[in-house]
Amino acid sequence: MSDARPIGLFDSGIGGLTVLKALSAELPNENYIYFGDTARAPYGNKSSGSVTQYAEQTTRFLLRQNVKALIVACNTVSAVAMARIEELAGDIPVFEVISPLVEDVSAFLKGREHARIGVLATRRTVASRQYPEAIARRAGETIQVEQIACPLFVNLVEEGIWHDQLAEAAVDHYLSVWRQNTPDAVLLGCTHYPLLKPLIEAYLPQATVLESGPALSRVVAEALARSDMRHEDTGGSRIFYCTDALDTFVDAAVSFLGEAATNTTQIHLKDIECI
Ligand code: DGL
Repeated sequence: MSDARPIGLFDSGIGGLTVLKALSAELPNENYIYFGDTARAPYGNKSSGSVTQYAEQTTRFLLRQNVKALIVACNTVSAVAMARIEELAGDIPVFEVISPLVEDVSAFLKGREHARIGVLATRRTVASRQYPEAIARRAGETIQVEQIACPLFVNLVEEGIWHDQLAEAAVDHYLSVWRQNTPDAVLLGCTHYPLLKPLIEAYLPQATVLESGPALSRVVAEALARSDMRHEDTGGSRIFYCTDALDTFVDAAVSFLGEAATNTTQIHLKDIECI
């Protein structure tokens, strides 16, 4: 049996494309619908109430596209809105990005009782304490977790600035406290940040830098296989929606995905706010 229904995934903007890229590598035959809420990005500085409201609207929109699974390709939404999304999704499986990354870091920590883990995330994700609490539950209280909120990273990435001196200055601004005393592993707890991964790795060469896309993709692939929901036929497709200017989204998407985001539509906020 082959299930051709699409997989829906969403983020505040282009950050979730880092998840889409990893998913497409793991599950190339699937049909994907990507939703970037570019009109309301960034989410990371907003209240839990606002983020949950946006996530509800996007969830309803994607459920109407007959998705077979929902992927919350955003740590901020994963940190604050999962209960509501799962309630709306009913029988449709929902995957978030925090647990797979915590699983990855616990594999990295195997056999070590003491280690320092750094978490880079948005203000809302940091405030939720989801990462330190999940790491303590999974790997033990003796693992030291230090979080740094890096709100400017999201705006830089949305503007396609992830290579130059401005991006380097932002990395230095947030991470200088770890330059001399580097954690053993650094988790990119925001799906926008993998675009800055080469700069972060160059700045903290002693740290192992982990991101959620590959870990999440393995979890999704296993879950779909277990439920006999994989699309086995070849020729997976991608449809993109964003809530603000198409040209900005398409330019940033193409330079990241390495191919044009051709099937792209702008959805007006008023059309999803009333769903
Ligand atoms: N990429 C998202 C995350 O993983 C959202 C960032 C933002 O919009 O502030 O948290």
